[in-house]
Amino acid sequence: MKKIFLERETARLIILQRIELLNPILKKIRKLFGRYLFSSFFSKYFINPRSIANQYYNLMEKEFKTINKNIDFNNKKILSIGSGIGGLELIINKKSSSSFFDIVEKNYVSKKIKYGWDKNNQEAYNNLQLLESFLLNNGMEKNCFEIYDCDEDVLPEKKFDIILSLFSLDYHYDFNIYLNYFKKVSDEKTMIIFDTIRPDHFKNIFKNVVILKSDQDTVHRSKRIVCNKFIDN
Ligand SMILES: C[S@@+](CC[C@H](N)C(=O)[O-])C[C@H]1O[C@@H](n2cnc3c(N)ncnc32)[C@H](O)[C@@H]1O
Repeated sequence: MKKIFLERETARLIILQRIELLNPILKKIRKLFGRYLFSSFFSKYFINPRSIANQYYNLMEKEFKTINKNIDFNNKKILSIGSGIGGLELIINKKSSSSFFDIVEKNYVSKKIKYGWDKNNQEAYNNLQLLESFLLNNGMEKNCFEIYDCDEDVLPEKKFDIILSLFSLDYHYDFNIYLNYFKKVSDEKTMIIFDTIRPDHFKNIFKNVVILKSDQDTVHRSKRIVCNKFIDN
């Protein structure tokens, strides 16, 4: 059964966002020809969108299970930083009711994808039109979300219940980029969830830091944490 619909161009973005979905042959091609040729040429033609759709959906369901035990997603104002193409947001929307998503992303694909810590935060792999059509084509109502280009738009200002950023904030680029913004749009109850390799660092920033998941063996070696209450707010 096909669980989600993916256009080829969207599937291409997904394998840039989620490198673990590349099959071994494509991984070899990427090694042989380099990341630039891979992301600009091979990834356009040598992928199977249907298979990526299934794998991506399963992966996002798995990610959802790492957070849903600790967080109630019903009737919440959710800020999503670096959602990628939005599979997790789609699943949360399906499995909960009356939540609204403000999604903050970048609107370009870097020429040379490096994967890793990006000091200047210039690495991005998204297209905000494709993000919107992915959500709409897969059944999310237009009145459930708003998308913001983090380089161009004024970011939403409201008190969020949940801030969500998987393998984006602090995993690829510094948490400090959003620190002051988060202080403005959160209160004592806001749950901030993200992946990091330095969980202890956040004990100096938040009163509460809980580890949700520890990933030591895969490409994503890191910890997923949920934090709340800024110490100096
Ligand atoms: C590795 S992908 C993860 C995507 C998604 N969260 C997931 O788990 O599949 C990282 C995402 O962060 C986005 N990104 C990079 N810098 C960003 C920034 N400053 N603000 C918001 N998103 C950013 C990239 O465009 C990319 O889609």
